[in-house]
Amino acid sequence: MSSPNAGTDLHQLSDAALRDHIAAQLTRARLRSTALTDAVDEPELIMQHSPLMSPLVWDYAHIANQEEIWLVRDIGGREAVRADIDQMYDAFKNSRAERPSLPLLSPTQTRGYVSQVRQKVLDVLERAPLNVSRLTEAGFAFGMVVQHEQQHDETMLATHQLRRSGPPLQAPLPSPAVSSALPGEVLIPAGEFTMGTSTEAWALDNERPAHTVHVEAFFLDTTPVTNGEYLRFIDAGGYSQRRWWSAPGWEHRQRAGLTAPLFWSRDDGGSWSRRSFGSQIPIQDDEPVLHVCLYEAQAYAAWAGRRLPTEAEWEKAARWDPVSQRSRRYPWGDEDPTPERANLGQRHLRPAPAGSYPAGASAHGVHQLIGDVWEWTSSTFAPYAGFEVFPYAEYSQVFFGEDYYVLRGGSFGTDQAACRGTFRNWDYPIRRQIFAGFRTARDAEPS
Ligand SMILES: [Fe+2]
Repeated sequence: MSSPNAGTDLHQLSDAALRDHIAAQLTRARLRSTALTDAVDEPELIMQHSPLMSPLVWDYAHIANQEEIWLVRDIGGREAVRADIDQMYDAFKNSRAERPSLPLLSPTQTRGYVSQVRQKVLDVLERAPLNVSRLTEAGFAFGMVVQHEQQHDETMLATHQLRRSGPPLQAPLPSPAVSSALPGEVLIPAGEFTMGTSTEAWALDNERPAHTVHVEAFFLDTTPVTNGEYLRFIDAGGYSQRRWWSAPGWEHRQRAGLTAPLFWSRDDGGSWSRRSFGSQIPIQDDEPVLHVCLYEAQAYAAWAGRRLPTEAEWEKAARWDPVSQRSRRYPWGDEDPTPERANLGQRHLRPAPAGSYPAGASAHGVHQLIGDVWEWTSSTFAPYAGFEVFPYAEYSQVFFGEDYYVLRGGSFGTDQAACRGTFRNWDYPIRRQIFAGFRTARDAEPS
């Protein structure tokens, strides 16, 4: 089965090559979903490991239900497989906390449903005309479904991290080589750049359209903030000093009793360790800090005399090439991610040490913007000028507003299908179970 070469524009592929690409992406996503649900026994699939998360078996059937609705019924024009369960697997009709009390399909029924839907989808993929509507242009609806599955796979990975029972997940692969002697921060000069995209075939509505944004000169950390740096904030009493925290941040810190990142604990001798997918591992100083909420990231930045980057600053640092005067698809260029460029796709179960992936650095020399940890920005989730709902308001539009903050860049648990220079993620500022860290910025003094 052929797959497009690095950086191929899906609009340019032949019909057969596009179908092969879609089939390969669907298969890759399904291998991951299967591995994530085969990793534990039936009781672990059915139970709710945290009120923040769905039972794993709900996610799995929900993936197939969305796939059925968009590809079997809408694109394929076929009869419903299980219209009777749409309601139960509709994320907007049932909160995560309510999902365990629904009469969910059993794990065996779920696996049967999932494979029945996929059979039909592969049949639709063989026969349905592509490039005949906006939904089928460059296979968009299939791409949307692939991204949806991969996003739920990352959510399921977060559920595994929250599990207190069942077997630990597999040990991570060793980390890649680290660059030495990197500067602490990089200057991004003032000027306009192109934010968002109008051409990326599978970009979602919130990434569109491409538009020009002026960004003042600023400095950005070369790498994400590390555990060692964050420990200095803890040791300096950062969690008990009101002055570093925003008003809502301090209120939350007190109410939730935050004293360290989620999953961290300190033994009697004062050594820190963290729970990682069922194993207790020492805190590694040079690894990016993980499982902090926006308020913790902001407090650290204030303590360090810095601030979080805005979303536009992050994207400019990641995509703008001052030589060619254009925005790239990824920090390193237009070519797709590879294992040498970024820590993506659950190949490792942890972020790589700061300074890893020199081949993935941006034109300005910023490292690890893609992969490793999602990075909190100071921006709330808002539509770009010229935003249009596509294909439905529940994808992005209903989340716009002051409640959600944007995270960028993807984590070690994000698949490359759901990660690019323009990709926008969003969450509540108190969330810590996601694979999020941050890097800091500061204004450049006017010269
Ligand atoms: Fe979903």
